[in-house]
Amino acid sequence: MADTKFSKVDFSKYFQPPSLKDARRRRREAVQIINDFSIPEDMNTIGKGKNYLIETYGCQMNEHDTEVMAGILEEIGYTETKEATDADVILLNTCAIRENAENKVFGHIGHLKTLKLERPGLILGVCGCMAQEEVVINKILAKHPQVDLIFGTHNIHRLPQLLKEALFGKEMVVEVWSKEGDIVENLPQARRGHFQAWVNIMYGCDKFCTYCIVPYTRGKERSRHPEEIIQEVRELARKGYKEITLLGQNVNAYGKDLPDMENYGLGNLMDEMRKIGIPRVRFTTSHPKDFDDHLIEVLGKGGNLCEHIHLPVQSGSSDVLKIMGRGYTRERYLDLFHKIKDTVPNASFTTDIIVGFPNETDEQFEETMSLVRECQFDGAFTFIYSPRAGTPAARMKDNIPMEVKKERLQRLNTLIDELSAKSNAKYQDQVVEVLVEGESRKNSEVLSGHTRTNKVVNFRGPKSLIGQLVKVKVTDAKTWSLDGEWQKEAEAANL
Ligand code: 5AD
Ligand code: SF4
Repeated sequence: MADTKFSKVDFSKYFQPPSLKDARRRRREAVQIINDFSIPEDMNTIGKGKNYLIETYGCQMNEHDTEVMAGILEEIGYTETKEATDADVILLNTCAIRENAENKVFGHIGHLKTLKLERPGLILGVCGCMAQEEVVINKILAKHPQVDLIFGTHNIHRLPQLLKEALFGKEMVVEVWSKEGDIVENLPQARRGHFQAWVNIMYGCDKFCTYCIVPYTRGKERSRHPEEIIQEVRELARKGYKEITLLGQNVNAYGKDLPDMENYGLGNLMDEMRKIGIPRVRFTTSHPKDFDDHLIEVLGKGGNLCEHIHLPVQSGSSDVLKIMGRGYTRERYLDLFHKIKDTVPNASFTTDIIVGFPNETDEQFEETMSLVRECQFDGAFTFIYSPRAGTPAARMKDNIPMEVKKERLQRLNTLIDELSAKSNAKYQDQVVEVLVEGESRKNSEVLSGHTRTNKVVNFRGPKSLIGQLVKVKVTDAKTWSLDGEWQKEAEAANL
């Protein structure tokens, strides 16, 4: 039973739940470019003297969406706080990729109920990928009436209007469009970093890997126009940013949907990035199927394009890959891998792997282990398969016992640790370029940053180095990071 203190509405009257079935459809309608973000007049300064907190779960796409929502809230006067107890608006920007991500969010919504009872004026919102799922909305409606506002990934630009309804209306506000999606340009962005920035190049995914919820929650693949991206990156360069990461769920499909731009792809865009005076350019996430020769050739030119490729493989077995709907075989992945490695010899490689997919046999798992050995990855994100309601794989029997899944994951992780240590050992006594990102999490006396190949480097130096590119000599290569000494003289010589 819902808590009576909060049960204020009969939702069924005006709420059309999102539909995963609808979200699956690709109608080939033209993508609308929306440029008319607006703030209702009476909302212009509504947040003055008030605070907001956005808690972000999941991928970089969500991190960047949070920057946009923060930008919108700051535009109407709100100030960021780190303390939930000081916040007048709390938004949970959620992730739906695996069940444990969702459980974490529900746990948190439960905790926030006490805060909401203490501060009835607090606006509590849920957005991001979970908001696109009808099961989630139904659960919030039934069990968490303390939530004031739910909005989807296609509704972010409507935040001022939605917040207005939540502040002045009596009902829970729910707006989730189950649409293929448009592109909204010129939204405010409160970037969290002053020298690293994310830049969306495309939205959505049309790959429909059978286990994945993303194509349903994020809509169809749609690319921003190159001119918009180039202009944004030039502006970041002008402001002194040192590193940008081009973002998309499947960046290798970039450009395919652009009208009148046949054959314009990620390779062309990266070539444009090389001409911009920004020291480091990265991109994520890649899909092996769409990774073309032109892109490899452009990456081979180096310059500001960083030598780190995140190339999710998911499984080393062609049979499993087929059922996952990945669109490539083990052999094609390996061919691509070696082609990139030959063209960009110093590149580091990382990957994503799922263990325990329905029917995965011991032999098929061994194929994953052998592929990992062959590729000698620098690192990997490894996951136990998690059925997502509405996806084709969720209709298959999840028949691998949890102990087997856990055992496979553990063996895989041990191998990944070994390979990471081995690849790090190659850096021993080398001088590397590090973008200094801040104090190390473990020790505020130590600075921390990444190499171009995305290795974490820790070293001692003055705080004034934060935000700068410096030279560090590696003195101790560990499993997951490199310790080093700042090469002050090298810096002086470069001046
Ligand atoms: N179960 C487990 N892992 C998943 N991923 C995506 N969907 C699932 C799922 N249902 C993993 C993939 C993907 C990464 C972002 O998350 O490895 O590359
Ligand atoms: Fe999900 Fe596959 Fe699209 Fe990646 S490519 S977001 S795993 S459907």
